[in-house]
Amino acid sequence: MTIFYFTATGNSLEVAKSLGGRCVSIPSVFDSDKLCFEDDAIGVVFPCHFSDIPMPVSLFLRKVTLNTPYLFGVVTYGEMCGDVCKILDEYGKNCGNAFNFITSICMVDNYVPLWDVESQLKKLPKKDVPRQLARLYKEVEERKVGIQRVSLFGRLAGSFTRLVLGFMGNPYHRHRVEESKCNGCGVCSSVCPMGNISMYGHRPTVNSFCIGCGACTHHCPQNAIRWRGEKSRARYRNSSVSLLEIIHSARKL
Ligand SMILES: Cc1cc2nc3c(=O)[nH]c(=O)nc-3n(C[C@H](O)[C@H](O)[C@H](O)COP(=O)(O)O)c2cc1C
Ligand code: SF4
Ligand code: SF4
Repeated sequence: MTIFYFTATGNSLEVAKSLGGRCVSIPSVFDSDKLCFEDDAIGVVFPCHFSDIPMPVSLFLRKVTLNTPYLFGVVTYGEMCGDVCKILDEYGKNCGNAFNFITSICMVDNYVPLWDVESQLKKLPKKDVPRQLARLYKEVEERKVGIQRVSLFGRLAGSFTRLVLGFMGNPYHRHRVEESKCNGCGVCSSVCPMGNISMYGHRPTVNSFCIGCGACTHHCPQNAIRWRGEKSRARYRNSSVSLLEIIHSARKL
């Protein structure tokens, strides 16, 4: 089994690892000329971004050929993933990679302008991630088929979110480096899956090709990256994932 994943703070990598297959980060294969993979089962695991598929994942699905009798998708989310499972189902069909099974896993919400990490961590026991992962493992092992159902509310919330974002354009140029705290270590640049942070000497510069994933912000060892309107200064990395794994996940081979 091969599992392609995209992650910023490690939630999606935790899910990918829990399934026990070969984990391949999407940024690491993204620029390959020949994107064709074959296995007895293939998974695609990624975070929900505004009730939608993050751009690197949708581009990957458009470029890649996944030859497998069992293609499954898992969306990680924090509070409400709207109709993203349905969106993924339709998107997969349109680009020739139809999914057999799509589900979601509720974890810590890492979007700092909306949620405070500390209150998110308090909610974690209720979300019971180990139980969700055990359920997912069984479903994949049994090759469960079907697309997670979406309520009318989820559908409306998803459409509304995408509509608002469509009007706003790219809302992601919202973070800045606090120069007095930054020590020029370059971690932000190493974890950015878009290669969007350039280091000029010891000075990081955030460019304009940002998808707002939050990796730079959450992994900065100096906590020197601020988001406009952030709910608190607390930051998050999934406890079963190391900084090195995040750097590896963002790196092109
Ligand atoms: C830009 C952005 C948008 C997000 N949108 C949603 C959302 O619409 N619904 C939701 O429940 N969580 C949302 N989240 C939270 C993430 O989906 C969630 O924390 C996810 O598990 C993070 O996975 P990762 O650690 O693999 O990056 C968003 C996070 C970011 C950074
Ligand atoms: S990770 Fe933080 S401290 Fe290091 S260069 Fe980036 S902003 Fe500065
Ligand atoms: S600059 Fe930061 S938020 Fe934007 S894509 Fe890179 S890591 Fe993600």
